Amino acid sequence: MATASSQLLLPVLLLAFARPFFAGSVEPGAAAGLHPVVLLPGYSCSQLDAQLTDEFDHSSAPSCGGAHWEKRWFRLWQNHTALQEDPALVPCYAELLRLVYDPVAGDYRNVPGVETRAVAFGTTRGFGTGDPATKNICMEKLVRALEGRLGYRQGENLFGAPYDFRYAPAPPGQASRVFAGFLSTLRALVEQASEMNGDSPVILVTHSLGGLNANFFLRRSPSAWRRRYVKHFVMASTGAGGSVPLLQLGGSSTATDLLSFANTRWTFASVFSPLPSPIVFGHAPLVVTRAKNYSACDIPEYLKANGFSDDEAARYVTRVLPVTLDFGAPAVPTTCINGVGVPTAEKLMYWDGDFGAKPEAVYGDGDGAINIASMLALDTLIGADPAQDYFKSLLIHNTSHVGVISDDYAVKRLVNEVLEANRAID
Ligand SMILES: *[C@@H]1O[C@H](CO)[C@@H](O)[C@H](O)[C@H]1NC(C)=O
Ligand SMILES: *[C@@H]1O[C@H](CO)[C@@H](O)[C@H](O)[C@H]1NC(C)=O
Ligand SMILES: *[C@@H]1O[C@H](CO)[C@@H](O)[C@H](O)[C@H]1NC(C)=O
Repeated sequence: MATASSQLLLPVLLLAFARPFFAGSVEPGAAAGLHPVVLLPGYSCSQLDAQLTDEFDHSSAPSCGGAHWEKRWFRLWQNHTALQEDPALVPCYAELLRLVYDPVAGDYRNVPGVETRAVAFGTTRGFGTGDPATKNICMEKLVRALEGRLGYRQGENLFGAPYDFRYAPAPPGQASRVFAGFLSTLRALVEQASEMNGDSPVILVTHSLGGLNANFFLRRSPSAWRRRYVKHFVMASTGAGGSVPLLQLGGSSTATDLLSFANTRWTFASVFSPLPSPIVFGHAPLVVTRAKNYSACDIPEYLKANGFSDDEAARYVTRVLPVTLDFGAPAVPTTCINGVGVPTAEKLMYWDGDFGAKPEAVYGDGDGAINIASMLALDTLIGADPAQDYFKSLLIHNTSHVGVISDDYAVKRLVNEVLEANRAID
């Protein structure tokens, strides 16, 4: 393990990062003795490279044609330039990006013969979607602010943990090979970041789905390890109970968007992780039709009504729900930061039961993606847990889900929390 991790991180150490130019705005004394920071971005924010092996069967991806593909790594998520230049690549890349569930292994996997890896693990260089239209939704501004204001330096005390966002955690006893692999590389990265910085413990900073994954990671780490290696957990734009807007499972596919093309995203294990939790939303009707209502407790039926198979609905119960119900204290000093004041659907009305149509909605408070109820539940599910020591939950007004890491004001708040975590004596 030790050998594997040093091999993994060697490229990080060898990278010659130019000293960032900051216009005299670095906090006085901040650069000295900073705790290392490890960043986990949100859904779709890690670029993925792919390579086809001999096992690849062209019939599993007919849109890619029968031509021989040279065996080399190429950017699968997201090669924006290539897809713009040749829209015919969209169906092919979407087919390569799908996941399949292997009942024998009891696990999700890539399409056979497609190998994938997150780009530039250990650094933040693989953060982003590749599409210039979605600039700054993937912690780019936060990275610049940590460098510019606090004097963090890539590869020295600032690290990135991109991950294959298609995969999700599984409960104990169930296989999740790719996700488990990510957790062991994350563990090695945290240890190495600490060792490179005089053994000082790291500050984990996450956005959105990255927070769910990091929370799972921390809850399954031995307490001695957490105490030794984790100074603070700053979790941005992550609720304790998922999101009602994400119950919009229908909707048309678009010809240019890889994730929605031919329902590609609905093959991912990770799309079920942030669905509303029964602990937070209980039996309240979240989806209303003339004939029937669905609450967070009816998600298996709701999935079937949306065209998911019986197996997929059953997998939600055995594989997703136990992880959702287990959300709780990470048992390291934690600061949660969420946006509020943005209309957020808290009930979806599909009167005719046509889930492919655009629903009417009843709106409540939230960040546009996460409902206020899910944010307030952080106080009970994390803050009130006896296992949790320091806990703070910040709500930033008039700030959206992505605004938390892209609006100047919010980024400033986030960086202040990182600075405060650095200074805390705990
Ligand atoms: C993007 O796709 C083009 C065309 O297939 C390819 O030449 C290029 O190497 C790809 N970019 C990356 C980063 O893999
Ligand atoms: C569904 O919920 C609404 C409240 O949102 C309620 O008025 C209605 O009676 C419920 N319908 C059914 C079929 O239970
Ligand atoms: C809310 O934020 C938007 C930009 O994100 C800004 O235009 C607007 O003035 C803000 N509203 C308030 C009440 O602060």
